[in-house]
Amino acid sequence: MTDSLSVRDNRTGAEGELPIADGAIRATDLRQFAVGDERLAAYDPGFMNTAACRSSITYIDGEKGILEYRGYPIDQLAEKSTYLETAYLLLHGELPTPPQLAEWEQAVNSHRRLPDNVKTLIHGFRFDAHPMAMMMSAVASFHTFYPDSRNIHDKESRYVNILRLIGKMPTLAAFAYRHAVGRPFVYPDDRLSYTENFLAMLFQGSEPRYATDPRLVRALEVLFILHADHEQNCSTNAVRSVASAGNDPYTSAGAGIGALFGPLHGGANEAVLKMLREIGSLDRVPEFIEAVKAGRVRMMGFGHRVYKNYDPRARIIKATTREVFDAVGVNPLLKIALELERIALEDEYFVKRRLYPNVDFYSGLIYEALSFPPSMFTVLFAVPRTAGWMAQWAEGVTDPEQKIARPMQIYTGKPTRDYEGLYDRN
Ligand code: CMC
Repeated sequence: MTDSLSVRDNRTGAEGELPIADGAIRATDLRQFAVGDERLAAYDPGFMNTAACRSSITYIDGEKGILEYRGYPIDQLAEKSTYLETAYLLLHGELPTPPQLAEWEQAVNSHRRLPDNVKTLIHGFRFDAHPMAMMMSAVASFHTFYPDSRNIHDKESRYVNILRLIGKMPTLAAFAYRHAVGRPFVYPDDRLSYTENFLAMLFQGSEPRYATDPRLVRALEVLFILHADHEQNCSTNAVRSVASAGNDPYTSAGAGIGALFGPLHGGANEAVLKMLREIGSLDRVPEFIEAVKAGRVRMMGFGHRVYKNYDPRARIIKATTREVFDAVGVNPLLKIALELERIALEDEYFVKRRLYPNVDFYSGLIYEALSFPPSMFTVLFAVPRTAGWMAQWAEGVTDPEQKIARPMQIYTGKPTRDYEGLYDRN
């Protein structure tokens, strides 16, 4: 006997069995309970209880605070892997062998350079333009340079354009940053790893060869691994939704960057620093907590749609702050963050709502210690999330069950009425 849900519609007395597969019923099975023209649909703003796809990439158990990529626990990847190896895992489903990894790294790194016109595009922005706007427009423009990317049903084309995007994202992010600070672009250095090269393109001055503390390179690598994917979050949903109309990886990723820019999603770490600065000192923490509880402000970097436990990424980032602060000195805002967390973990308001620190609570403190301005924080989320977006994009476009994303609505407007001439209206 297959699992099913027995349903009785008390409007009509109609009874039916809704098959349950993988813990879900099909919303379209509800259609059998329509009464004449009056349909029966599921209403779910924000997809609180709706699965939009099957995916074998990332697993989250929000109750237990578990995050896994292709079955590997995030803490093991953060400790032992590199970002490019993790990106390979997300895209291919398995960890690479040594020759596979060498070939993959070489292939990604060979795509680090940007078309000249993209540099002109970046120069066209005002000096104070937010780098996420530059990222969004430049990524969306990429398909004009690589028209083969529109050929999404060709495996080879999908692969090469995914490589291109992962290779180019750090260069684009660094160029957007250098434009904002009015410094000349630094071109990729083939001798450096993905993350080290990214730091060099961002911060290299007049010195002939950029060198930085290896602890900082490793911290960035860990942050990149933690941000690489997070199943069907807002930006991934945007990527999949735009892809479902038959779009190339660049157009789809451009939509993802737009979604990530929002303060409730990737923009939260920038908002955390702003919040910590506004609080300013430890003695003002209780006053701020009261404002949160009264609903006047939100505690940024707290709460999550899925995690109803400590976000496993936040735990790893909190540990990484120690290593970074050992290398560059402690960010004084850390004290305020620790005090907010201490109070919140004991306070009934947060405990009852199961609000814990999320990935953004401590990451901004590290980014600031690494000399990034707050406007770059979301960019530092977008660069590594590209691997996840691309894995999800490829999974979506090759999934025979996928259809163009087109939710229904419940119409609450006026019933049909006749047009009135301009001077006949009251
Ligand atoms: N501070 C204070 N109260 C909160 C917070 C918060 N950060 N988050 C949720 N709540 C309260 C909310 O007011 C509501 O209370 P009540 O039941 O009394 O109305 C309850 O908790 C449930 O909140 P919700 O808004 O219905 O939850 P959601 O799942 O729709 O929102 C969220 C999730 C992440 C948007 C939200 O927790 C939030 O706004 N957090 C702050 C922004 C933030 O840190 N975002 C980064 C998310 S993690 C990175 C990523 O994956 O994008």
